[in-house]
Amino acid sequence: MSLKESINQQALPKHIAVIMDGNGRWAQEQGEDRLFGHLHGVESVRDIVEGAAELGIGFLTLYAFSTENWDRPQYEVSGLMELLVDTIRKEVPTLNKNNIKLHVIGDLNMLPANARQELSEALTETGSNTGLQLIMALSYSSRWELGNAVRNIAIDVKAGKIDPLKVDQDTLQQYLATSAFPDPELMIRTSGEYRISNFLLYQLAYAELYFTNTRWPEFRKENLYEAIIDFQGRQRRFGKTGDQIT
Ligand code: IPE
Ligand code: IPE
Ligand code: MG
Repeated sequence: MSLKESINQQALPKHIAVIMDGNGRWAQEQGEDRLFGHLHGVESVRDIVEGAAELGIGFLTLYAFSTENWDRPQYEVSGLMELLVDTIRKEVPTLNKNNIKLHVIGDLNMLPANARQELSEALTETGSNTGLQLIMALSYSSRWELGNAVRNIAIDVKAGKIDPLKVDQDTLQQYLATSAFPDPELMIRTSGEYRISNFLLYQLAYAELYFTNTRWPEFRKENLYEAIIDFQGRQRRFGKTGDQIT
């Protein structure tokens, strides 16, 4: 039986989130420039998006660039932005062919104008697709998102739109950049790092975490299947006892 066939189609995670890490080290390990790693990382994105769509996963969030990544050397940041613009432009027809709808979360004002333009076209062009919902976290960080949410709640309280005494978890959820999506059930991080790096801190409250040493440029569908099978072997208790679950 292939790995793919061992996946229980009835128990797929609805939402998978991925910290795509290890591009730079992968490249440097073979004496190449870090940008070479990012370029190859795009191949993995293609493969994983296709794999998730084929399986029938509802939501896939990919952490592509954090607000902290702006502090990298200028050369790497510009290289990544060029790659971003180029990739979006090239991938829209494939997204449409596979009925995939693109979403973006993050502080998009920080992006160069051509990247914003390219993104906004891609969002419109894939806007009516109903298959996999592909969420790119770009110039994203959880603390940025939470700060934004709190500010907007304060503004709406002041304007009399919401009663401050009624602000609760549901209110906060509605003000997050991810308000339209369910929380991720499975979070994958590649490259052997065991941290969250400011990614979906609130939304990952009950996600199953999966870490692999595989560097992102080498991550393929088979690796995704392994992560899903691992996920399906876990007992998710949400605070209850094991007996209550079975
Ligand atoms: C992930 O790979 C991609 C981005 C953060 C943009 P890295 O560039 O972080 O690669 P490493 O972790 O330095 O190897
Ligand atoms: C997290 O990776 C951000 C993305 C994958 C986009 P980093 O490489 O920036 O994280 P740290 O710095 O190792 O925590
Ligand atoms: Mg990294």
